[in-house]
Parts: sequence; C-alpha cells; structure tokens
Amino acid sequence: MKENPAASDWAAARGEKWCAQLSGMESMLMPIDEPLIGALKLDAPSRIAEVGCGGGGTALEILRRAPAGSVVHGFDISPKLIEQARGRLRPDERAIVFEVADMATAAPERPYDRLVSRLGVMFFDDPPAAFANLVRWLEPGGRFAFAVWGRPSDNPWMTSLREVVARVIALPQTDPEAPGPFRYADASKLLSLLDRAGFSELEVHDWRGALPIGGELAPPEAAHFALASFSSFGELLASAGDDAFREAHQSLTTCFSRHQQDGAVRMDACVRIFTGARP
Ligand SMILES: C[S@@+](CC[C@H](N)C(=O)[O-])C[C@H]1O[C@@H](n2cnc3c(N)ncnc32)[C@H](O)[C@@H]1O
Repeated sequence: MKENPAASDWAAARGEKWCAQLSGMESMLMPIDEPLIGALKLDAPSRIAEVGCGGGGTALEILRRAPAGSVVHGFDISPKLIEQARGRLRPDERAIVFEVADMATAAPERPYDRLVSRLGVMFFDDPPAAFANLVRWLEPGGRFAFAVWGRPSDNPWMTSLREVVARVIALPQTDPEAPGPFRYADASKLLSLLDRAGFSELEVHDWRGALPIGGELAPPEAAHFALASFSSFGELLASAGDDAFREAHQSLTTCFSRHQQDGAVRMDACVRIFTGARP
C-alpha cells in the first residue's frame, strides 16, 4: 500500500482499510463536522451532495442538522464504504441516499444546492479536470464547503506518529504534489484550482482543535489504532517484523500518554475549510 493513496486505491484496498477502522475514524473526525456543516449555511431546505462520503457519518450528521425537507446524497468511489453507509440507514429512510461514484468524472442526475466534503477532495488523479467536473454538481448560486488538512506542522496527530515510526524503520519520502492527506496544506494550491475550475466567492478558514485518536481510547489502544489506520505505517512495520511493530507501539504509547485528557488521547489538528459558490 502506497503512502499517497490515489482514487484507484480508495476504490479497492484503501477503502476496505478505512471501512475496517470506520468507527474509530469517525469518532476521531467528528469534531470537524461542526465547522464544516456550519460553513454550508443551510438556511432553507436544501439538496446536498457529499463528495467522498466514506462510511456515511458526515451525511447522517448533515441530515440531523439541516432544515426539515432537506435531502442528502453521499457519493464515494469505494463500493465497500457505500455498502457500509447504506447499512446504517433505516429501511424507510428517504431523505438520504448513498451511491458509488467517481466524483472526478461522474455527472449529477440533477445539480445540487450544496456540495460538501470532509477530507474527500485530496485524492483526484487529475485535479483541474475533477474540480471543473464538481462545478457541474452545483446549481448556479449553489455553495460548497470542502475540508482538507492544514500544514503537517499544525497536525501533530500525524507528524508525531511519523517521527515515531521513522525512528524504527526507514520511511519513503512523501510527495506533496501527489494525491494524499496534505496535498492542499498550502491553501493557495487549492484556491487556484477552485478559481480555475470556475467557482467564485472563494474563502478559506482554518479550524483548530483537538481530535481524539480512534475515539475514547487509552494510550496503548490509541497507538494500536493509529499504527493500523494511518498512512501505510502498519503494513511497513509488519513487513519489518514483530519487533519493529512492538518498538513503534511502545514509543507511540509513551508519546500518546503525554496527550491523555478526559479518557482519550487528544492531539492538536488544523483543518482548512474552503467555501465558495457556482456563479
Ligand atoms: C479520507 S477518506 C474520508 C471519508 C469521509 N469523508 C470521512 O471523513 O469519514 C476519503 C474518502 O474519499 C473517497 N474518494 C477518494 N477519491 C474519490 C473520488 N474520485 N470519488 C469519490 N470518492 C472518492 C475515498 O473512497 C474515501 O472514502
């Protein structure tokens, strides 16, 4: 498994890996929903599409907060994650639908009032073409809110983990231009792509907060979750042998012990929320 996952990885192994860790991932990322959904400014019943909806947690939260009469359609390239998301719906649920789609190329049956994504727009193989395609998903005057990770130095949940693992095994260099979590850490890159795609009224706001690693877990379990879930650290350590995994787990547990608060390991994070409209 590569350190920089592309869309094709998400459709297969990466999507399955995210699915296997879904409840810990969603508990950890839940604090991002509040600022992201707020940025959508849902002031009237709306049709909302989500890009890269994963296992559906954000779509369900949007529907809970949206004005009555709203509908949410979640789209993801991973069949496994869409199956998981559908499994969370009541059989009589009509206001929310999950569909498999490659949002870089798929066309909407009918454009939406809002387009949203929690960490799902960093993996397109051809970003200029993909963002130009996303414009078509909005009605004229429709608005979007996309969350992406800020700079690695503002996200110690990832940098501390990387430092710990790099002390045990040699890690491949990450390519900041390639698909991956920190691809738009430099806000000007995504602003320029959105502008060239044809979106207007562009703004970006940083959200800073603490994320509970894997949810409400003690340091040893949080260390296990982090090594198993993020990037390809678990796979790389496994190929280096049991001792390598044990050593990394032990030093990550020590590191996480310093960040224990109210029954969880809480690590600082910075997420950039981009907003704008289709003219
Ligand atoms: C980091 S995960 C975030 C999942 C979910 N939004 C969440 O926050 O829990 C990125 C998601 O984007 C999806 N994705 C990546 N490329 C995509 C594409 N071209 N079209 C649709 N979904 C895509 C992946 O399958 C994955 O579910």
